[in-house]
Amino acid sequence: MRPVRRGTAALRFQGRTARCMQKKIVVLISGRGSNMQAVVEANLPVVAVISNRADAAGLAYARSRGIPTAVVAHKDYPTREAFDAQLAAEIDRHAPDLVVLAGFMRILTDAFVERYAGRMINIHPALLPAFTGLDTHARALAAGVKLHGCTVHWVTPTLDEGPIIIQAAVPVRPDDTPERLAARVLRQEHVIYPRAIRWFLEDKLRVENGVVRVAGNEPQLVYSDA
Ligand code: GRF
Repeated sequence: MRPVRRGTAALRFQGRTARCMQKKIVVLISGRGSNMQAVVEANLPVVAVISNRADAAGLAYARSRGIPTAVVAHKDYPTREAFDAQLAAEIDRHAPDLVVLAGFMRILTDAFVERYAGRMINIHPALLPAFTGLDTHARALAAGVKLHGCTVHWVTPTLDEGPIIIQAAVPVRPDDTPERLAARVLRQEHVIYPRAIRWFLEDKLRVENGVVRVAGNEPQLVYSDA
Protein backbone atom coordinates (compact mmCIF):
# COMPACT_ATOMS: atom_id res chain seq x y z
CA MET A 1 0.00 0.00 0.00
CA ARG A 2 1.10 3.53 -0.64
CA PRO A 3 1.54 5.74 2.42
CA VAL A 4 -1.51 7.86 3.19
CA ARG A 5 -0.52 11.49 3.55
CA ARG A 6 -2.22 14.13 5.63
CA GLY A 7 -4.12 17.22 4.41
CA THR A 8 -6.23 18.01 1.37
CA ALA A 9 -3.95 16.20 -1.02
CA ALA A 10 -4.28 13.08 1.10
CA LEU A 11 -8.08 13.27 1.04
CA ARG A 12 -8.07 13.69 -2.72
CA PHE A 13 -5.68 10.77 -2.99
CA GLN A 14 -7.78 8.54 -0.75
CA GLY A 15 -10.97 9.44 -2.65
CA ARG A 16 -9.33 8.63 -5.95
CA THR A 17 -8.06 5.29 -4.71
CA ALA A 18 -11.42 4.39 -3.15
CA ARG A 19 -13.25 5.16 -6.41
CA CYS A 20 -10.84 2.95 -8.34
CA MET A 21 -11.10 0.18 -5.79
CA GLN A 22 -14.85 -0.26 -6.24
CA LYS A 23 -14.13 -1.55 -9.73
CA LYS A 24 -12.50 -4.82 -10.68
CA ILE A 25 -9.87 -5.86 -13.18
CA VAL A 26 -9.05 -9.30 -14.57
CA VAL A 27 -5.63 -9.58 -16.24
CA LEU A 28 -4.85 -12.16 -18.95
CA ILE A 29 -1.24 -13.24 -19.42
CA SER A 30 0.73 -15.88 -21.31
CA GLY A 31 4.24 -15.50 -19.93
CA ARG A 32 6.52 -13.29 -17.88
CA GLY A 33 3.76 -10.99 -16.66
CA SER A 34 5.84 -7.90 -16.01
CA ASN A 35 3.02 -5.61 -17.15
CA MET A 36 0.59 -7.41 -14.85
CA GLN A 37 3.11 -6.92 -12.06
CA ALA A 38 3.31 -3.18 -12.81
CA VAL A 39 -0.49 -2.97 -12.64
CA VAL A 40 -0.59 -4.81 -9.31
CA GLU A 41 2.21 -2.67 -7.90
CA ALA A 42 0.29 0.46 -8.89
CA ASN A 43 -2.34 -0.73 -6.36
CA LEU A 44 -4.98 -1.22 -9.03
CA PRO A 45 -7.79 -3.62 -8.15
CA VAL A 46 -6.71 -6.85 -9.86
CA VAL A 47 -9.16 -9.56 -8.74
CA ALA A 48 -7.78 -12.41 -10.86
CA VAL A 49 -4.96 -13.33 -13.24
CA ILE A 50 -5.76 -15.89 -15.93
CA SER A 51 -3.26 -17.58 -18.24
CA ASN A 52 -3.60 -19.85 -21.25
CA ARG A 53 -0.31 -21.50 -20.20
CA ALA A 54 0.24 -23.28 -16.90
CA ASP A 55 3.96 -22.43 -17.07
CA ALA A 56 3.45 -18.66 -17.36
CA ALA A 57 6.02 -17.17 -14.98
CA GLY A 58 3.67 -14.35 -13.99
CA LEU A 59 1.30 -16.75 -12.24
CA ALA A 60 3.77 -17.29 -9.40
CA TYR A 61 4.02 -13.55 -8.81
CA ALA A 62 0.21 -13.21 -8.73
CA ARG A 63 -0.07 -16.07 -6.24
CA SER A 64 2.65 -14.53 -4.09
CA ARG A 65 0.48 -11.41 -3.87
CA GLY A 66 -2.59 -13.46 -2.90
CA ILE A 67 -4.36 -12.82 -6.18
CA PRO A 68 -6.55 -15.69 -7.43
CA THR A 69 -5.16 -17.31 -10.58
CA ALA A 70 -6.58 -19.70 -13.15
CA VAL A 71 -5.26 -21.54 -16.18
CA VAL A 72 -7.43 -22.10 -19.24
CA ALA A 73 -5.05 -24.05 -21.47
CA HIS A 74 -5.80 -23.39 -25.13
CA LYS A 75 -4.40 -26.78 -26.13
CA ASP A 76 -7.19 -28.49 -24.17
CA TYR A 77 -9.85 -27.10 -26.50
CA PRO A 78 -10.57 -28.30 -30.04
CA THR A 79 -11.46 -24.88 -31.47
CA ARG A 80 -10.82 -21.20 -30.81
CA GLU A 81 -14.53 -20.82 -30.10
CA ALA A 82 -14.47 -23.51 -27.41
CA PHE A 83 -11.37 -22.01 -25.80
CA ASP A 84 -12.78 -18.48 -25.86
CA ALA A 85 -16.07 -19.68 -24.35
CA GLN A 86 -14.27 -21.28 -21.43
CA LEU A 87 -12.02 -18.24 -21.03
CA ALA A 88 -15.09 -15.97 -20.95
CA ALA A 89 -16.72 -18.20 -18.33
CA GLU A 90 -13.61 -17.96 -16.15
CA ILE A 91 -13.41 -14.18 -16.58
CA ASP A 92 -17.11 -13.66 -15.90
CA ARG A 93 -16.91 -15.50 -12.56
CA HIS A 94 -15.15 -12.37 -11.33
CA ALA A 95 -17.57 -9.90 -12.97
CA PRO A 96 -14.79 -7.49 -13.90
CA ASP A 97 -15.31 -3.95 -15.12
CA LEU A 98 -12.19 -4.23 -17.26
CA VAL A 99 -10.28 -7.07 -18.94
CA VAL A 100 -6.59 -6.25 -19.34
CA LEU A 101 -4.57 -8.17 -21.94
CA ALA A 102 -0.95 -8.15 -20.77
CA GLY A 103 1.16 -10.24 -23.09
CA PHE A 104 -1.77 -12.58 -23.78
CA MET A 105 -0.60 -14.43 -26.88
CA ARG A 106 -3.84 -15.70 -28.37
CA ILE A 107 -5.89 -14.46 -31.31
CA LEU A 108 -9.37 -13.86 -29.95
CA THR A 109 -12.60 -14.65 -31.81
CA ASP A 110 -14.84 -11.77 -32.84
CA ALA A 111 -17.53 -13.07 -30.49
CA PHE A 112 -15.14 -12.87 -27.54
CA VAL A 113 -14.01 -9.36 -28.49
CA GLU A 114 -17.60 -8.21 -28.90
CA ARG A 115 -18.56 -9.66 -25.51
CA TYR A 116 -16.01 -7.32 -23.87
CA ALA A 117 -16.44 -4.36 -26.22
CA GLY A 118 -15.54 -1.13 -24.43
CA ARG A 119 -14.13 -3.02 -21.45
CA MET A 120 -11.04 -4.78 -22.80
CA ILE A 121 -7.67 -3.14 -23.46
CA ASN A 122 -4.28 -4.32 -24.74
CA ILE A 123 -0.69 -3.14 -24.69
CA HIS A 124 1.34 -3.49 -27.87
CA PRO A 125 5.11 -2.99 -28.06
CA ALA A 126 5.14 -0.51 -30.96
CA LEU A 127 3.75 2.86 -31.92
CA LEU A 128 0.55 1.70 -33.59
CA PRO A 129 -0.53 1.66 -36.34
CA ALA A 130 3.11 0.84 -37.17
CA PHE A 131 4.41 -2.68 -36.55
CA THR A 132 1.32 -4.66 -35.64
CA GLY A 133 1.94 -8.35 -34.92
CA LEU A 134 5.10 -10.00 -33.61
CA ASP A 135 8.85 -9.16 -33.49
CA THR A 136 8.13 -5.46 -33.36
CA HIS A 137 11.55 -4.41 -32.06
CA ALA A 138 13.57 -6.29 -34.69
CA ARG A 139 11.22 -4.98 -37.39
CA ALA A 140 11.58 -1.41 -36.12
CA LEU A 141 15.38 -1.73 -36.30
CA ALA A 142 15.21 -3.27 -39.77
CA ALA A 143 13.00 -0.40 -40.95
CA GLY A 144 15.49 2.14 -39.59
CA VAL A 145 12.87 4.10 -37.65
CA LYS A 146 14.30 6.61 -35.19
CA LEU A 147 11.34 6.56 -32.85
CA HIS A 148 9.70 3.46 -31.42
CA GLY A 149 7.52 2.74 -28.41
CA CYS A 150 4.36 1.17 -27.10
CA THR A 151 0.62 1.70 -27.25
CA VAL A 152 -2.33 0.97 -24.98
CA HIS A 153 -5.50 0.61 -27.03
CA TRP A 154 -9.06 -0.65 -26.87
CA VAL A 155 -9.40 -4.13 -28.29
CA THR A 156 -11.46 -4.41 -31.47
CA PRO A 157 -11.84 -7.45 -33.77
CA THR A 158 -8.84 -6.51 -35.95
CA LEU A 159 -5.53 -7.52 -34.33
CA ASP A 160 -3.60 -4.63 -32.76
CA GLU A 161 -6.12 -2.08 -33.91
CA GLY A 162 -8.61 -0.09 -31.89
CA PRO A 163 -8.71 3.42 -30.48
CA ILE A 164 -5.39 4.52 -28.97
CA ILE A 165 -5.57 5.47 -25.29
CA ILE A 166 -1.92 6.37 -24.63
CA GLN A 167 1.46 5.93 -26.30
CA ALA A 168 5.02 6.14 -25.05
CA ALA A 169 7.81 6.94 -27.48
CA VAL A 170 11.49 6.15 -27.06
CA PRO A 171 14.46 6.94 -29.32
CA VAL A 172 16.07 4.19 -31.37
CA ARG A 173 19.84 4.34 -30.89
CA PRO A 174 22.42 3.44 -33.54
CA ASP A 175 23.86 0.63 -31.41
CA ASP A 176 20.49 -0.88 -30.42
CA THR A 177 19.82 -4.58 -30.56
CA PRO A 178 16.22 -5.86 -30.45
CA GLU A 179 16.82 -6.79 -26.79
CA ARG A 180 18.13 -3.35 -25.79
CA LEU A 181 15.31 -1.61 -27.61
CA ALA A 182 12.76 -3.99 -26.07
CA ALA A 183 14.04 -3.19 -22.58
CA ARG A 184 13.76 0.57 -23.22
CA VAL A 185 10.21 0.14 -24.50
CA LEU A 186 9.21 -2.21 -21.66
CA ARG A 187 10.18 0.38 -19.03
CA GLN A 188 7.62 2.70 -20.61
CA GLU A 189 5.00 -0.06 -20.90
CA HIS A 190 5.14 -0.27 -17.13
CA VAL A 191 4.49 3.48 -16.94
CA ILE A 192 1.63 3.82 -19.39
CA TYR A 193 -0.40 0.67 -18.69
CA PRO A 194 -1.23 1.49 -15.06
CA ARG A 195 -1.94 5.09 -16.13
CA ALA A 196 -4.42 4.01 -18.82
CA ILE A 197 -6.15 1.60 -16.45
CA ARG A 198 -6.49 4.29 -13.80
CA TRP A 199 -8.11 6.59 -16.38
CA PHE A 200 -10.62 3.84 -17.18
CA LEU A 201 -11.36 3.21 -13.51
CA GLU A 202 -11.86 6.93 -12.95
CA ASP A 203 -14.24 7.03 -15.94
CA LYS A 204 -12.06 9.54 -17.76
CA LEU A 205 -11.99 7.89 -21.19
CA ARG A 206 -14.29 8.80 -24.07
CA VAL A 207 -14.06 7.73 -27.71
CA GLU A 208 -15.14 10.26 -30.34
CA ASN A 209 -15.01 9.13 -33.97
CA GLY A 210 -12.43 6.50 -33.11
CA VAL A 211 -10.22 8.93 -31.16
CA VAL A 212 -9.83 8.58 -27.40
CA ARG A 213 -10.12 11.72 -25.27
CA VAL A 214 -9.12 11.82 -21.60
CA ALA A 215 -11.05 14.04 -19.21
CA GLY A 216 -8.87 16.88 -17.96
CA ASN A 217 -6.75 16.67 -21.12
CA GLU A 218 -4.16 14.52 -19.41
CA PRO A 219 -1.24 13.88 -21.78
CA GLN A 220 -1.73 10.80 -23.93
CA LEU A 221 1.90 10.82 -25.05
CA VAL A 222 4.93 10.02 -22.92
CA TYR A 223 8.42 10.53 -24.30
CA SER A 224 11.39 9.06 -22.50
CA ASP A 225 15.00 8.37 -23.46
CA ALA A 226 15.67 6.53 -20.21
C1 GRF B 1 4.99 -6.86 -23.72
O1 GRF B 1 6.04 -6.35 -24.49
C2 GRF B 1 3.65 -6.44 -24.29
O2 GRF B 1 3.69 -5.20 -24.91
C3 GRF B 1 3.39 -7.50 -25.32
O3 GRF B 1 3.89 -8.69 -24.77
C4 GRF B 1 4.90 -8.37 -23.82
C5 GRF B 1 4.47 -9.00 -22.54
O4 GRF B 1 5.43 -8.84 -21.53
N1 GRF B 1 1.99 -7.54 -25.65
P1 GRF B 1 5.05 -9.17 -20.03
O5 GRF B 1 4.51 -10.59 -20.02
O6 GRF B 1 4.04 -8.18 -19.58
O7 GRF B 1 6.35 -9.07 -19.28
